Amino acid sequence: MTASRQIHLVKRPSGKPVLEDFAIVDVRVADAGPGEVQIRNLLMSVDPYMRPQLDANQPLNAPLLGGGIGRITQSNNPKFAVGDLVRHSMGQQEVFLSDGRGLTLLNPDPDLPLSVYMHALGGTGITAYGGLLEIAALKDGEQVFVSTAAGAVGSVVAQIAKIKGCYVVGSTGSEAKRRWLIDHAGLDAAIDYHADPIGKALKAAAPKGIDVYFENVGGAHLDAALACMNLRGRIAVCGMISTYNGDREGVRNLSNMIYSRIRMEGFVASDFPHLNAQFISDMTGWLKAGKIKYQETILEGFERGPEGLIGLFEGRNSGKMLIRLAD
Ligand SMILES: NC(=O)c1ccc[n+]([C@@H]2O[C@H](COP(=O)([O-])OP(=O)(O)OC[C@H]3O[C@@H](n4cnc5c(N)ncnc54)[C@H](OP(=O)(O)O)[C@@H]3O)[C@@H](O)[C@H]2O)c1
Repeated sequence: MTASRQIHLVKRPSGKPVLEDFAIVDVRVADAGPGEVQIRNLLMSVDPYMRPQLDANQPLNAPLLGGGIGRITQSNNPKFAVGDLVRHSMGQQEVFLSDGRGLTLLNPDPDLPLSVYMHALGGTGITAYGGLLEIAALKDGEQVFVSTAAGAVGSVVAQIAKIKGCYVVGSTGSEAKRRWLIDHAGLDAAIDYHADPIGKALKAAAPKGIDVYFENVGGAHLDAALACMNLRGRIAVCGMISTYNGDREGVRNLSNMIYSRIRMEGFVASDFPHLNAQFISDMTGWLKAGKIKYQETILEGFERGPEGLIGLFEGRNSGKMLIRLAD
């Protein structure tokens, strides 16, 4: 038996989650049985999609659902050896058992940190890549607007669009993040939507209109983008984080879709298995060449999982928010 801890949801949040909605629970984990592996978590991801889950799908008094990277510590499964690194979706727990289903064996590039397999080379990276190149069908040189542009998905979207020779405008929630977008990610324009109302600021920042809007926020951001869309523009609907805590700001410009012949399409990260090999090859190359830059906000310590999740809704992360348990 191995001592472990789990982070449980103990109360369904009303609005933005608070620390009291969660509890840290001590457990003991059995040794790996036939066909099983025991895994020690190294890195846990916190992601915006976890918030809507707290309203229904996430069971109470059970480990918070979510992704991470762990190391195999015991193995009775021929597919995995002790010491292997795996990406998993076993949630917020320190040590756990698995029958191997849903584990992705990682073979990390020695020139890249392991953490990038939790974002640019992981779920948020393929979301950005597939959403922009397949769903929005980006063409070289187009006019692009990306919201939450300094976040995990948004920063990759914005920089792929730059690689494709596009004019790129990003929105974000602080002057420091706005500056990073201009000075490091190389965007053409960036808006701090807390300082400048998004509708007016976007019109000024995108004087040739928008061909592709990569939607991460919803509400006023979607309204602002709809007002600027060019003929046959595409809106790839990746997320609507401004609505996840229950706020429902009305969208008034939806009728602009009609005469501008706008296509708006939602998608999820798992829609792109056919792109995976090309994505890994492109993204590894771009990261190593410094063409895709990234930021990470890493909270040290298992018990900081809830703080990390709540922080996403307060804009506390620059780039990917992660929880580090061990190296
Ligand atoms: N479809 C999919 O499969 C999929 C997969 C991954 C992510 N997503 C979506 O992609 C979006 C970004 O996710 P991510 O993982 O990359 O997270 P992230 O952007 O790294 O972190 C969340 C950021 O959202 C911004 N934010 C929080 N509340 C906001 C509000 N009320 N209005 C405007 N901005 C707000 C904050 O940045 P600022 O400081 O810049 O405001 C915060 O840092 C989310 O909508 C998420 O649901 C979808």
